[in-house]
Amino acid sequence: MNDQAEKLRKMASSIRQQIEEDIMNKPRQTRVIVISSGKGGVGKSTIALNMSLVLCTYNKKVILMDADMGLANIDIMLGIVPEYTIQHVVQGRKKLKDIIIEGPAGVKIIPGGSGINELANLNDNELNRLIQELGKVDGEYDYMIIDTGAGISRNVVSFLLAADDVIIVTTTEPPSLTDAYGTVKTIIRQSYTGKIYLLVNKVGNSTEGLMVAEKFRIACNRFLNTDLIPIGNVVNEPAVSEGIMRQEAFTQMFPQSAATRNIKSIVDRLLTGYEADYSSPGQAGGVKSFFRKLSSLFKEKGAGVG
Ligand SMILES: Nc1ncnc2c1ncn2[C@@H]1O[C@H](COP(=O)(O)OP(=O)(O)OP(=O)(O)O)[C@@H](O)[C@H]1O
Ligand SMILES: [Mg+2]
Repeated sequence: MNDQAEKLRKMASSIRQQIEEDIMNKPRQTRVIVISSGKGGVGKSTIALNMSLVLCTYNKKVILMDADMGLANIDIMLGIVPEYTIQHVVQGRKKLKDIIIEGPAGVKIIPGGSGINELANLNDNELNRLIQELGKVDGEYDYMIIDTGAGISRNVVSFLLAADDVIIVTTTEPPSLTDAYGTVKTIIRQSYTGKIYLLVNKVGNSTEGLMVAEKFRIACNRFLNTDLIPIGNVVNEPAVSEGIMRQEAFTQMFPQSAATRNIKSIVDRLLTGYEADYSSPGQAGGVKSFFRKLSSLFKEKGAGVG
């Protein structure tokens, strides 16, 4: 009897060792997280930048991409004037490594600009070259965070559909909630299968944020048959706009502020969720696969014009 128990213990320990080795040897895939909202001005760029910085301070390697076609927000937020944007890569005039900018805490930034729009008009050769170029960052980064523009233009929807995870940012105001719901509905109707996180920004207090998130979650569950994950809220705080005014990220300028603590809890929740998912790999598709999906969605939908 004891012999048998000992045998089982050895077997279990060898299986565990095998799993650990597999995890260690598995090539790192970059997880692509797309941040969107519906309504404009709810805090997408602020959240994208500050979440990226907090992830960096947790020793994660992060590349932040500004995919807001109209306004290049992230660079302005940091007071950076990029010499080149992704447009130069799309046009084959620059390599990706030449346009990447280093921001605070070691975050890397890909300035977007209007180059994203040109994805839809590339021929197959150009597209393959671009995807190869973008794919070079695969494995180099743990996360690619993509900040999108407002609204549900076909471009924005394509970014969302190609993502590993989506974070929908809303405020507690009804127009923002209605538009956020519209965004969730649009991607669910188009068979998005990744995770959808809900982040409530500019809340008066955390109870208000929790209540709004719960109502939203219930509505999505009931009417869209979708399980949304409330990831937390960020208080409406002067420190945030102060950071914007001074062209510095508030999590760096005001590390003790309530909003910084909120962002840290959100990042903690995200990472804890990912660690819990370790046993079901395949969630992080990588940068190459993301852009491959994105470009085929652009072509399929005839996007690139709005
Ligand atoms: N938690 C907050 N507390 C106070 N002000 C905030 C907060 N979050 C964002 N803001 C302010 O709201 C404004 C809009 O933020 P931001 O530019 O990040 O929104 P956005 O959703 O990216 O906008 P757009 O749709 O134009 O891209 C900024 O002036 C920012 O300072
Ligand atoms: Mg923005």
